[in-house]
Amino acid sequence: MTASKDCRRCALCTGRTNVVMPEGDPSSPIAFVGEAPGAKEDEAGRPFVGLSGRVLNQLLEEEGLYRSKVFITNTVKCRPPGNREPTQAEMDACLPCLESELEGRKVIITLGRSAARDLLKRPVVMRDEVNRPRKITIRGKDAILIPAYHPAASFYNRKVKDSIRESIRNARTYL
Ligand code: URA
Repeated sequence: MTASKDCRRCALCTGRTNVVMPEGDPSSPIAFVGEAPGAKEDEAGRPFVGLSGRVLNQLLEEEGLYRSKVFITNTVKCRPPGNREPTQAEMDACLPCLESELEGRKVIITLGRSAARDLLKRPVVMRDEVNRPRKITIRGKDAILIPAYHPAASFYNRKVKDSIRESIRNARTYL
């Protein structure tokens, strides 16, 4: 199942401008999963095109892993009002789409707590989980999940960029 532009599976459809479809290389072995579209993404219908996207692009480039070579998506494809975290019900409604996007990927980097929680299916305390790879199974296929901080966290803590860099390097060792 893929996201559709007129999806009505949850209440986020009432406030969105655009469904934010995944971007990048559809056959990439590596996927990045963010939390949810923000205002810029909602406007453009593209993931990670605002300030967080700028940080993500910069780190990818620095690590020689260009945005066009990886797959980029979000736990939910529509912007939650006021940029709040998506609820469990919203993430559950979008999970069949997310799973079909991620099925068969080798490495999945989750960006932030919501994405890690969605795919690990349990509460997550980021400082205990970041850069500790886990094996997960998506539709019967194994993948490595690497929990990473969300790029937006780097606005408040300079060390976060180094940590995300480490997540990207870590991911490459599985390719
Ligand atoms: N933050 C996210 O989690 N996803 C986006 O697409 C943009 C910002």
